Amino acid sequence: MGVVEELKPIFSPKSIAVIGASRSPMKIGYEILQNILVQGYQGKVYPINPDVTEIMGLRVLPSVLAVKDDIDLAIIAVPAEFVPKVMTECARKKVKGAIVISSGFGEIGGHGKQLEDEVLQIARKGGIRLIGPNTLGYKDPIDRLDAAFVFGMPMPGEIALISQSGALCIGMIYYANGEHIGLSRVISVGNKADIDDADLIDYLDADRETKVIAMYIEGIKDGKKFLDSARRCTKPIVAIKAGRTPAGSAAASTHTGSLSGSDVVYDSAFRQVHVQRAYDVIEMFDFARALAYQPPAAGNRVGIISNGGGAGIMIADWCESIGLKVPNLTKKTMDALRPQLPSITTARNPLDVTGDARFHRYHATGATMLSDPNIDSLIMTCVHAGIARPREYVGAVIKLVEEKRNLKKPIIACWVGGPEIDEVVQELRVKNIPVYSSAMRAAKAVKCLYDEGRRLEAISKKKQARESSTK
Ligand code: COA
Repeated sequence: MGVVEELKPIFSPKSIAVIGASRSPMKIGYEILQNILVQGYQGKVYPINPDVTEIMGLRVLPSVLAVKDDIDLAIIAVPAEFVPKVMTECARKKVKGAIVISSGFGEIGGHGKQLEDEVLQIARKGGIRLIGPNTLGYKDPIDRLDAAFVFGMPMPGEIALISQSGALCIGMIYYANGEHIGLSRVISVGNKADIDDADLIDYLDADRETKVIAMYIEGIKDGKKFLDSARRCTKPIVAIKAGRTPAGSAAASTHTGSLSGSDVVYDSAFRQVHVQRAYDVIEMFDFARALAYQPPAAGNRVGIISNGGGAGIMIADWCESIGLKVPNLTKKTMDALRPQLPSITTARNPLDVTGDARFHRYHATGATMLSDPNIDSLIMTCVHAGIARPREYVGAVIKLVEEKRNLKKPIIACWVGGPEIDEVVQELRVKNIPVYSSAMRAAKAVKCLYDEGRRLEAISKKKQARESSTK
């Protein structure tokens, strides 16, 4: 059985047992049961607790062995020392998959590590695939299954999120909600005793709802397995690899029991398999949103439009300092731009459309720049100068994105200003148009789309080579 089939009972279960379902609203076992019910899960739910007969109107059984039907997924939230016994019962019951929420395993070392190995052995012997231990669980906003503690569903979308940190995972969901970034599946992997990043990459690569895989990683145990999965993945992967420094690495070892490893090795491994590395949460979502909603860039030549010269210069600096080019425009483009501009400005790249630019100037110059064969992608910027019209700028960007889809050139929005303009550009976020509050973020997003273009090129070259060798 392949990994996709193996993980199906975990992510699309027909029945769920919540082991450690609690009558106390302050406990995790209560919250998990509540979250499953609140989202309207349509399968069968079996709360398990030897001391209780009813919770939330559901009959409670003392053990999974007392359940008559088959159980696809067991979510386990009992103290660590009871997990081996519970897992043994799950194996006898032929439960197909488990999520071990409990902490107190590999992350505390010594006895905890032994306990983790024991649980893993029981699961392996019983043919149970296992997420965790020390995990939050998962949230599936597409199929509306909340198999996690902590209340609330992410906004549905096309970016899958895998996190080795549970608390950070929740923070990232709230950040994504605020940025209007939709998620397809959110999986907290915890200590990764069994199911690891590589398994999830394979699973999510086959998931029709997911376009991009975003990851927060502290350590990878089986490097070869990860590289193989990342290499064969057809979708872009963006990863934060934390624990880069001695201080970060020491913290990771007590957080999830991870060995962070050499950062240089991770860096070069990620490059080899085209995993785009991000260095914080904001950057990870910047890249993921660009990859999900803009085409890859065919080349590294960037056109820049701004209504403030300084912003254009900073973007040009950022582009050139990270391997992009800010090329000269063709004569045809410059001739077309001149009548679209006030006489005080020069038709060049970066292009300053001046502070008073309104819808038509942004729209016309954007369309002209995009038609230039020297330009592979466009950054459109609005500085909230006193006479600026951010609403008209936003309208022009939306129109260009809608009209110019067939050109397959990325269009990225960028702004400089205060909360008033942040509010106005929210319309771009709602429409899934990448919009960034700094020159650096905008340039890096374009670089990431350029790198995605190189990844796809490498895949297609490999495919051609394979085809010609079999002819
Ligand atoms: N089968 C089923 N239920 C059992 C059981 C068993 N073998 N043994 C105990 N229970 C029941 C208890 O009776 C209790 O129910 P009650 O509250 O109605 O009395 C319930 O399970 C919970 O057990 P309890 O001993 O009260 O534990 P707890 O809720 O205080 O803590 C954990 C359990 C798993 C939440 C806790 O040990 C833990 O690991 N917390 C950290 C979790 C975490 O942070 N994970 C990582 C996130 S990123």
